Amino acid sequence: MWHRYSSELRKAVLTAVEYAQSRGERDISTRHLLYGIWHADGDAAAILRRTGVDDLSFVNAFEAVEACEKPLNGPLPTLTRAAREVVDGAYVLARDYGDNYVGDEHILLSMLQNAAAGDGGRILRELGLVWERAWRELVDIQGSRLQAPGGIEVSKLARRRRAAGFAKAMKNVQQFAWASVNYRRHPFLPYLMFRKRTLDNPYPFYAGLRKKPIYWDGLINQWVVSGYKEVTAVLQEPRFSHQQFTLSTWDIAELPDIVTREFRSLNSRLGTQMLFLDGARQTRLRSLVSKQFTPRVIARMEAQIQEITDELLSGPANAGRIELIADLAFPLPATVIARMLGVSDTDSTALKKWSDDFATYIGGETSMTQDHAAYSSMRDLTVYFQTAIDERRASPKDDVITLLISAEDNGDRLTDDEIIANCLLMLAAGHETTTQLIGNGMLALLRNPDQLARLRASPELMPSAVEELLRFDSPVQWTSRVTREAFEWNGHTFKKGQLVNVCLAGANRDPGQFTRPDDLDISRDEGRHLAFGYGPHFCLGAALARLEGQIALRSLITRFPNLRLSTDKVEWQGSFAFRSLTQLHVELR
Ligand code: HEM
Repeated sequence: MWHRYSSELRKAVLTAVEYAQSRGERDISTRHLLYGIWHADGDAAAILRRTGVDDLSFVNAFEAVEACEKPLNGPLPTLTRAAREVVDGAYVLARDYGDNYVGDEHILLSMLQNAAAGDGGRILRELGLVWERAWRELVDIQGSRLQAPGGIEVSKLARRRRAAGFAKAMKNVQQFAWASVNYRRHPFLPYLMFRKRTLDNPYPFYAGLRKKPIYWDGLINQWVVSGYKEVTAVLQEPRFSHQQFTLSTWDIAELPDIVTREFRSLNSRLGTQMLFLDGARQTRLRSLVSKQFTPRVIARMEAQIQEITDELLSGPANAGRIELIADLAFPLPATVIARMLGVSDTDSTALKKWSDDFATYIGGETSMTQDHAAYSSMRDLTVYFQTAIDERRASPKDDVITLLISAEDNGDRLTDDEIIANCLLMLAAGHETTTQLIGNGMLALLRNPDQLARLRASPELMPSAVEELLRFDSPVQWTSRVTREAFEWNGHTFKKGQLVNVCLAGANRDPGQFTRPDDLDISRDEGRHLAFGYGPHFCLGAALARLEGQIALRSLITRFPNLRLSTDKVEWQGSFAFRSLTQLHVELR
């Protein structure tokens, strides 16, 4: 989400694609990427030239490899696996160096660094270019772009980080001095520089952001909104659109069909999910689906959810310990939503993979390989749900797919594509987030034993405790919108098409809205948290998530009076938009 591919890199990729097409070659290999880089004349071409490569030696080396290529014969070209890995590697390099964009120089370095870089890497080696030398050139080129006081620039910090180890480098006073000078201009800098620490505890970083509750961040070229008042205002304002599924960090409009054909199909499916629609189209879908998710309909599922929970807890109860995420927090909501959709238990493993790939895709910061996985999962999923729809038409069942087929509102019905897209949305939205509610919620209670004791003593506080846990460590930390048009709003000037990052978790810790927001208080009664969003896209599954959260936590607390963390150390997943634990080991006896 935060790293954009630079326009120079796009130019280089376009040149590579055109070159492959002009030669009738089947695949866009790393060799074509290298050709694109050289002829698009960006920073990577500058590195090559500065390290002594000239036109003649480049063409000679290029032609030596070119002779082995197969001519186009069959389907249109696509990126080869090696080329895709190189692009992914470039993304990781940019991120590790603290650069806020991915440029063609990162591609070049990735080719040199990556053993599987294919023919492009071979050409570079034939030309005598080595990683270390190219890397020094990169540092100089970047130094001229982002120069900091005292002569430190982001990439040099990265070099030191590599040399001395991340933890040691972080203590470097100069880095902090540099960061604090720039922090005022670019509040996002601490996140980009100290990413791991921010992921462990993002709340001090959000407190820093809230000093400017809505601002344009020139470093990431996006708006950032983190104050409670500002977040609720943005989520209600129709000029901030949610119709913004993108081709990861690539700009779909600028890339040619042969690269984007697969992704266009994925994005057009996202386009029929209510979450990514605005206005009347969203309202129509939502009103057809929402009948299955009212608190009254959901309350009827209580016995079934309790039964699944008891079953999941029986093994760990015997063992005396539980890995809460894998043993309960993940399988409970996954089983509930799969059963609601009428998916058999044997199919649910495949569905988990498909929906994970999809969740990664919309969670942001995806690599090309992850985009590709999302595409093929979407294709498999479409086939799966289309078959399910055909079966339900022939013999209806007591499940949500059957209900969606027959759902009717003033004579309006859902098309098969809409049913498929929204089943996928429910599947993805319906389990990862609830897993996080149970995991983050239990962790917060175990870290605040006074609140856990209060809850044991007063079980009637459970509904308010779950709301507080959602506020305190929100599963969905960020969402986003795109400006539909140019407009003035609350003293800010928005241009058309700008990305607006909305920090739900930051708003949930806003001291302007909540007293002592960093304290957990299970009887807090101070108005609405924003963990389920706000306005027209307010979470459709909120009643279901609340019920699952309450049952899971109640079962753990009442069955196991000696619950405690096995270790104080916990690990968070790398996602920025979602806050999720990789594991949570808990002693039950
Ligand atoms: C603790 C668990 C959950 C959390 C924290 C959560 C959070 C959210 C948030 C923040 C949004 C709004 C996103 C935005 O405005 O950009 C949303 C929308 C949505 N959620 Fe949830 N969710 C949870 C569980 C569920 C479950 C169990 C379902 C099951 C069906 C579900 C289905 C949906 C759907 C369909 C939408 C889109 C609604 C629309 O666009 O009209 N969610 N959720």
